[in-house]
Amino acid sequence: MSVLSGKKILLGISGGIAAYKTASLVRLFIKAGAQVQVIMTPASKDFVTPLTLSTLSKNPVHSSFFNEEDENAVWNNHVDLALWADLFLIAPATANTLSKMVSGNSDNLLLATYLSAKCQVYFAPAMDLDMYKHPSTLSSFNALQSFGNIMIPAESGELASGLSGEGRMAEPENIVAFLEADLESKLPLRGKKILITAGPTYEPIDPVRFIGNHSTGKMGFDIAKVAADEGAEVVLVTGPTHSKMTHSSVKVVNVTSSEEMYHACHEYFDDVDAAVAAAAVADYRPKYVAPQKIKKSDSNLTLELEKTKDILSSLGEKKKNQFLIGFALETENEIENAKLKIKKKNLDLIVLNSLNDEGAGFGKPTNKVTFIDKDFNEVPLELKTKEEVAQDIINKIKTHYNV
Ligand code: CTP
Repeated sequence: MSVLSGKKILLGISGGIAAYKTASLVRLFIKAGAQVQVIMTPASKDFVTPLTLSTLSKNPVHSSFFNEEDENAVWNNHVDLALWADLFLIAPATANTLSKMVSGNSDNLLLATYLSAKCQVYFAPAMDLDMYKHPSTLSSFNALQSFGNIMIPAESGELASGLSGEGRMAEPENIVAFLEADLESKLPLRGKKILITAGPTYEPIDPVRFIGNHSTGKMGFDIAKVAADEGAEVVLVTGPTHSKMTHSSVKVVNVTSSEEMYHACHEYFDDVDAAVAAAAVADYRPKYVAPQKIKKSDSNLTLELEKTKDILSSLGEKKKNQFLIGFALETENEIENAKLKIKKKNLDLIVLNSLNDEGAGFGKPTNKVTFIDKDFNEVPLELKTKEEVAQDIINKIKTHYNV
């Protein structure tokens, strides 16, 4: 999934022949899952039509301070547009628009919006080769970068003038790749590795039967997704579930039994910065696994169960600098029991789920949890979606690492 997914992109188009390429650019942004609004300078409308861009962006295109489509409507508020955006890309950025951006000229909607923007601004210059090399253009590039704007350099090739050289606006695919790389390099958990366990475990009785539980894996999968969205490299060790993971930064390790989960976790734990144990691991398993299907007989059947390894405790024993987070599912004396687990399993944080809370637990989209840290500070959270709880958990890791 692209880092642009869910991002609000404001695209400012100024009047150069490369404006025709912005149709592909908008398509690529939409395909990446971004929301797009377009502002055009009056001159750019000679190169690409607002109708094309509004159709592709699925939003009205803005180009003047008043709303041309609706005479009763209020003016196009450049401040609202600027504040809406997560990032503002000016492409193509002509020499004229760039020099006006430097001097603070605001005689069109694009420029006024640029001056109001608080988000990161990127500009992709497009002009003829001699204009691109001109000292005044170079001084615009330098000034704009010194203001904190990021330049997406022009590429070399055939130019509209018939000349060949540097000055062509970067190709739409390259602009998208540039933005993705820049955003990824700034993600807070970039460079951090996180191990997450999820789902149930199945403990075999015979080749066709097992002891399992109702865990859907949703909580662990949500934590993995948020961690990856924030830039972490994630190893998700999961028992059998129907939950799906599509994020390319999440390595999914499928296991079935608690023993397999134990070994998978130990394979990765030494290398990670944090671990979150969200799996519902079986505490007991059949002591003897029948090699053949157990046949029905006239008498009752008694299974002898033995304890499984406590994966989280074993990680707590060997942890060095890893920030270790566990879950506790309690039905009575919740806080006391959770605090005991923090000490016993050597945790940095426990996420206490109470089954007494309506909306919490297996198969529900929501969760009602209390965070308790190793100094026993308690933070009860309101009923939230599992995605929101996942974000809160990842925020704890970010706070720990000061990112
Ligand atoms: N856990 C684990 N390995 C086990 C059992 C539990 O890693 N064999 C982890 C779970 O993933 C969870 C935490 O331990 O993060 C607590 O699980 P919970 O079932 O609440 O507690 P238990 O330690 O199993 O104790 P009890 O069932 O008696 O409450």
